[in-house]
Amino acid sequence: MSEKSSRSTTVAVARPPQESAADALSAAVDRAVLAPSLHNSQPWRFTVHADRLDVRADRTRHLASIDPPGRELVQSVGAALFNARVALAARGWAVDVRRCPSPDDPDLMAVLQLVDGPPDPGLAVLDSVVAQRRTNRRTFDATIPTDAELRSFTAAAVAEGAVLVPVLTGEQHRLVARLTQLADSQQQADPAYLAELARWTNRAPAEGDGIVAAAVPHVDGSAADDVPMRDFDTRGDGSLPPSSGVGAEHTLLVLGTRTDDEAAWLRSGEALQHVLLEITRAGWAASPLTQSVEIPLTRMELRAGLTWDTWPQTVLRIGHAGPTSATPRRQRTDVVSG
Ligand SMILES: Cc1cc2nc3c(=O)[nH]c(=O)nc-3n(C[C@H](O)[C@H](O)[C@H](O)COP(=O)(O)O)c2cc1C
Repeated sequence: MSEKSSRSTTVAVARPPQESAADALSAAVDRAVLAPSLHNSQPWRFTVHADRLDVRADRTRHLASIDPPGRELVQSVGAALFNARVALAARGWAVDVRRCPSPDDPDLMAVLQLVDGPPDPGLAVLDSVVAQRRTNRRTFDATIPTDAELRSFTAAAVAEGAVLVPVLTGEQHRLVARLTQLADSQQQADPAYLAELARWTNRAPAEGDGIVAAAVPHVDGSAADDVPMRDFDTRGDGSLPPSSGVGAEHTLLVLGTRTDDEAAWLRSGEALQHVLLEITRAGWAASPLTQSVEIPLTRMELRAGLTWDTWPQTVLRIGHAGPTSATPRRQRTDVVSG
């Protein structure tokens, strides 16, 4: 059975002439690796078969201090899986996605099997923005999305079995701000967290991973953001302005899922990427602010006070901002076999 997104569109998708199934799967990997990942750790591997693609978690790239359960690792793999689904739809292929298909092989997160049938046009239209999407940590202006735009972002989450809760009232905003500040200060006081962050912000260029100074704000203590961005500026050479600009009028979104197991984490990663691509397509910038969902106590408080029957998985801020540069990616040969 092929997957369908909930979005209707009239775009017809034709397969490029002479593109074999293996070529399409290989092209899907090139798109998959452009996904966002925790500290740009890119914790994924792919095996290209004649008619299917295996998407695997690479747990050697687990960030154990910030993400003890590996939840954000699996989310990152889910985001890559979503990009692969988009790329195959754009190349005219229908796919059957089997998620977490083998209890004996828990690193095999998904198998994308090419099947007969029409591709999902709702996914295909997102292919053109996969390479444009970036985590934008610039100062955002205070414009807010229209109700129609917010509805299209929430529909993208629903299409992946998740929910997206806009933070609308002042009280909700203060709750997210307080919990983000609390989680951020706990992390800043944890030497293991700081050591891990330093490792992922000081990578050798040849590694093709981690967070680069050009993509982060220079932290000089002048920012008075009520929802603080993570301080990635471990060497004091961040290139972007120090403030996120997030004040009470800014739009925050919380992505959640009904359950909180590996399958839900994978789906939440797909949902995150679906929402981010819709945000990009609509001309908005976004960045995750995930401190409050990384500390168990603040995550529980966020659930109790905002998302009550769903597990908060990610917090996003959105706004308008100038462009930001692309982050590096690992060599294709390091992540693909087959
Ligand atoms: C699960 C997850 C959590 C993230 N948390 C944060 C965060 O708290 N703050 C932030 O600035 N970026 C966060 N990011 C964004 C990553 O740092 C970013 O995706 C990565 O550096 C690659 O850059 P790109 O998204 O521009 O391709 C997160 C991404 C993922 C997938």
